[in-house]
Amino acid sequence: MSKIQNIFKVVSNEKLCPRFFRLCIDAKSILKKIQPGQFIHIRATDGLEPFFRRPFSVYRAQKYVEIFYEPIGPGTKNLALKKKGDDIDVLGPLGTPFSLPSKNIKQVVMIAGGIGIAPFLAFSDILKKKKNLELILLYGGRTKGHVYPMKEFKANGVKILVATDDGSIGAKGRVSELFSKVKTDPKTTFLYTCGPTPMMAAVQAFAKKYNLQGEAACEEVMACALGACLGCSIKTTEGYKTVCYDGPVFDLNKVIFH
Ligand SMILES: Cc1cc2nc3c(=O)[nH]c(=O)nc-3n(C[C@H](O)[C@H](O)[C@H](O)COP(=O)(O)OP(=O)(O)OC[C@H]3O[C@@H](n4cnc5c(N)ncnc54)[C@H](O)[C@@H]3O)c2cc1C
Ligand code: FES
Repeated sequence: MSKIQNIFKVVSNEKLCPRFFRLCIDAKSILKKIQPGQFIHIRATDGLEPFFRRPFSVYRAQKYVEIFYEPIGPGTKNLALKKKGDDIDVLGPLGTPFSLPSKNIKQVVMIAGGIGIAPFLAFSDILKKKKNLELILLYGGRTKGHVYPMKEFKANGVKILVATDDGSIGAKGRVSELFSKVKTDPKTTFLYTCGPTPMMAAVQAFAKKYNLQGEAACEEVMACALGACLGCSIKTTEGYKTVCYDGPVFDLNKVIFH
């Protein structure tokens, strides 16, 4: 798919909860092409540092291209300073999208940890249009500062179950505590997951135990994001694959999580 690199305008940059921000970019040329699960690569500085662009999942793609991020390092801290009307250099869309569930699937379970929730709002915008499809989000955050109201998920008809490490909101413990609360069926359930590697490994173990199919949106530190430097390679049952070009979305049961 052809990629676009351009300077776009920031439309808004708001704090959704103590930890997470949402940045809206007026990038119509990318908006027309981008699909849930794909990402954009942002130049997160007006100077020299950080040198490499930073990858972000598309959080929403309706009027604007939106990302959802946590300021954790130099790039994301720079992004948090962006204001309406500022320029932003974006490359995208990149990578593979989530596949749509096949006709026999009646239940989609999205399992996200922390910032791993980012690709699922745009995905639920599409899935809600499918009839007779139950949408469930299992979300795990460290503490209540990592949980925001998720109003748009609710408006899309997504049933949400939350767990926090300290029990400050939702169930106490990891998101895997919530697996037992969902009745799955190998013929009609499909899993999608994104989040820290140990969490996705737990989702894979759950999928293997109950014979479930699914997809994982993987994350690795990236440099080129074009499949050239091989810096983002991960191990799969089909050999090494690059997260930026072959992924970030992979068959859940084929990734070898380390
Ligand atoms: C396909 C993809 C989609 C992503 N989508 C989002 C998103 O929607 N929202 C968001 O906030 N972040 C997302 N990320 C992660 C984000 O790109 C990185 O955290 C980025 O490095 C932050 O830049 P920084 O300069 O602020 O911090 P850095 O200084 O680059 O990183 C801060 C710390 O996080 C570690 N780190 C960086 N990248 C990763 C990674 N991919 N996996 C594990 N540890 C890492 C670094 O080693 C360092 O310790 C995504 C990453 C990928 C690969
Ligand atoms: S970042 Fe260079 S190959 Fe993926």
